[in-house]
Amino acid sequence: MTTKELRQKYLEFFEKKGHSIISSASLIPENDPTVLFTTAGMHPLVPYLMGEKHPEGKRVTSVQKCIRTGDIDEVGDNSHLTFFEMLGNWSLGDYFKKEAIEWSYEFLTSKDYLGIDPKKLAVTVFEGDEDAPLDTEAKQAWLDLGISEDKISALPKKDNWWGPAGQTGPCGPDSEMFYWVGEGEFPPEGSNVAIDEDNWMEIWNDVFMQYNKNIDGSFTASEQKNVDTGMGVERVVALLNGYKEVYKVDTLWPIVEVVENLSGKKYEEETLSMRVIVDHLRAATMIMGDNLGLAPSNVDQGYVVRKLIRRSIRHGKKLGIDTNFCGEVASKAIEVLGSEYTELEKNKDFVLREIKKEEEQFRKTLESGIKEFEKLLKGFQMAFEKTNRKITEISGKQAFKLYDTYGFPYEMTEELAHEHDLTVDKAGFDSAFEKHQELSRKGAEQKFKGGMADTGEMSVKYHTTTHLLHVALKRVLGDHVAQKGSNITADRLRFDFTHGEKMTPEERTEVETLVNAAIARDYPISFTEMTVEEAKAQGAIGLFGDKYGEKVKVYTVGDPAGMAEGNPESDTFSKEICGGPHVESTGVLGKFRIKKEESSSAGIRRVKGVLEDL
Ligand code: ALA
Repeated sequence: MTTKELRQKYLEFFEKKGHSIISSASLIPENDPTVLFTTAGMHPLVPYLMGEKHPEGKRVTSVQKCIRTGDIDEVGDNSHLTFFEMLGNWSLGDYFKKEAIEWSYEFLTSKDYLGIDPKKLAVTVFEGDEDAPLDTEAKQAWLDLGISEDKISALPKKDNWWGPAGQTGPCGPDSEMFYWVGEGEFPPEGSNVAIDEDNWMEIWNDVFMQYNKNIDGSFTASEQKNVDTGMGVERVVALLNGYKEVYKVDTLWPIVEVVENLSGKKYEEETLSMRVIVDHLRAATMIMGDNLGLAPSNVDQGYVVRKLIRRSIRHGKKLGIDTNFCGEVASKAIEVLGSEYTELEKNKDFVLREIKKEEEQFRKTLESGIKEFEKLLKGFQMAFEKTNRKITEISGKQAFKLYDTYGFPYEMTEELAHEHDLTVDKAGFDSAFEKHQELSRKGAEQKFKGGMADTGEMSVKYHTTTHLLHVALKRVLGDHVAQKGSNITADRLRFDFTHGEKMTPEERTEVETLVNAAIARDYPISFTEMTVEEAKAQGAIGLFGDKYGEKVKVYTVGDPAGMAEGNPESDTFSKEICGGPHVESTGVLGKFRIKKEESSSAGIRRVKGVLEDL
């Protein structure tokens, strides 16, 4: 079965079940600044899942373009892709679990549709916890269809709960369908997803959106009960054709062949690099080709595009490709997906031009960096001849110079070092990097805010105070408080945050008291580096951009080993993703006072605050 056939069959099936076909929305979500990309078919439908009336009625179905950068580290395995297509059908307050499950089963197993042997299927349902009970309704629906009890696994929230898409909103228990990918045609007796996870591949998810997640983290039953489903196109086409991996599918394999030709190497021998190139350039092409004219840049979606292209070029180098090749790969991606997503042909010139620009610029960077690296090697050799002592490590300073002066990515330094049996002092590089960040920040402050000797110092104090204020506002007003903007001068701080009403005089006093109590405690301030995911897991607040696996600094006010902020038992006052710099301990800050509290724009308040001598 081809991708085209699968899309058609799916839409036709659900049209017969009374659904209207709606077209794919943009990969860049409209009116949702909290996420960079559309990650699921439900994303563009959130207002309708919340009760707004959809112009097409209560049943809709689509093929949606999706980008997920959270799984980026898994790209290169058999099934994870940065760009993928998702088939979905939705009930907007209409049918519910029984019909959704029956239709899923019918589409998967009917000879007129996918014709999958039910013996190759296993399913999961939500096992229940303090927020919602075991999903007996979903389980019964599967039993009624003849799925045997031992093929139904009941699993916790982390497996069988989906949503909300943002911090709050529609969500609920889900039921997932899996296909046997283990040895042999059929699973052995007793095998199911709970005990044999690696041998089953998830192909479809039916989400029963019967809850709303609230600001305080609690769940309430929603007025409108919805169904949201999602089926990964590439995975299903792979399985239906007997492939054990998605790259053999017709929207990916022709692109692999282009890379084989360009490199003169075989996919079987260079699987990982080829997969990364194909995945990344296909994704970059889809983002740039999405009518919004997104080009590689240093911010937001453009930054992701830049990373995808640069990483592809690095993997191209590993395959021995040293001339521009990304355009050719992108052209093939446009060819294989252009019939479904007609905007691609329209934007082809733009995509190819931008890719070429990025590739040329990055190659120049690489070239001058490699020259410098070779100079370094020569220096090592000369030192060896003089002293007869071999240098085996590139210092942090040297690696940083390559990065800072020549724009040479640290990973490249590491790779080249490896090829020459050298190591790199990563910790040294990191600390040079930190120092530089702080100096340039302070330098910029000096430049913009006039020559007062203590300008930098006051800014740093206000910066730390801003962290204290952020936490205090959350504690007093609620967890919905999120930073929307911050501006610091030598004379005051200004902080914009989400909150619906004017603060009362009592709330203002309470916030001031909390901040001043934290100052009085003289908390130490420190930072550690971690990935955004780790930071989130530790409960750090701050602006979580889509940082694509990059490390961030997390500043802690208080004991870094303590619990997440907001926990009154712990000795950590705040943990926040931030570039610094900060004062060493809060005791030096003085006395905090809110001078003004006003509306900034709809739903956003603005506080201006000052530090006074104690
Ligand atoms: N929104 C659900 C998912 O992405 C269907 O799995």
